[in-house]
Amino acid sequence: MYSLAGKDFLSLKDIDRSDMELVFEIANKMDQVLKARTRVDILKDKILGLMFFQVSTRTRISFESAMQRLGGGVVGFVDPKTTRAGDYYAESLHDTVKMMESYADVLVIRHPEEFSPKHASEFTDVPIINAGDGYNEHPTQAMLDVYTILRERGHLDNLCVGLVGNMNLRAIHSLALGLARFQAKVYFVSPPDAAMPDIWVEEYKRMGLNYETATSLNDVIQDVDVIYPVATSHPDYHVGHTADKGERIATPKEFIVDREKIDRAKPSLIVLHSLPRTDELPVDVDPHNSARYFIQAHYGVANRMALLSLILGKAP
Ligand code: CP
Repeated sequence: MYSLAGKDFLSLKDIDRSDMELVFEIANKMDQVLKARTRVDILKDKILGLMFFQVSTRTRISFESAMQRLGGGVVGFVDPKTTRAGDYYAESLHDTVKMMESYADVLVIRHPEEFSPKHASEFTDVPIINAGDGYNEHPTQAMLDVYTILRERGHLDNLCVGLVGNMNLRAIHSLALGLARFQAKVYFVSPPDAAMPDIWVEEYKRMGLNYETATSLNDVIQDVDVIYPVATSHPDYHVGHTADKGERIATPKEFIVDREKIDRAKPSLIVLHSLPRTDELPVDVDPHNSARYFIQAHYGVANRMALLSLILGKAP
């Protein structure tokens, strides 16, 4: 039995290098299914339950697509307002999970509050996958990010990765955890008021991550093999994103990944992005041969197929 079978997938702190390599090996097989634009039936007797308390395009739809490519069914909600959790009753996470465990074999939860998927896992034996919790983690995003680097660079060890923008975003926290497993050198490139929080710095030190901080992409552009920008400002992750219509603040130019900076980088540089983007990644980078963020979304489906099949004990 694989080590992930029947387990929750809550944090990359819990996932070691061999787990990650196993997911990537299965993802390579799943990519063949995707490239053939077909379906297999290895999860035909399984149902995925979606519990999205925050909006999503990529994470939710790629999980749905992954389950359907594997022959399984999908139930759930994409907006808590359509459920009793979001009306007069404000049904608790506990009661909602206790309902969903009868309806599905694995639950994918996105929630504005940190550690909600972990709390949910304490109420049920059905495996819980964290699809992003507040400002904490987004572990399946990091898995697909690391897999994209592997596929597009051919290896993971000894690469230099620039994480650029606001270091308090969940995808960044998980990605640095994943890179720590592969001896990557990581630059945290951010304005001082968006620096990596101390609690995460301590975690990365504990893991032995080789990291440095910088306050301008210009300082590291010639060293990096991979750039991963995020916005310096962002919606409030403690509310549903649609509820936050706050003013969008322009990204300072030293954190914008534009063609002028890319042209000063190594020719082998690749640019990733979890998307959605704002102004930190201008659209005229899209045709540049460094751009990998759309293939990254494709790899996300293969990765989530691999995760679902491993967690449900049916991996090929
Ligand atoms: N990358 C990502 O998590 O995108 P969504 O918010 O659209 O799921």
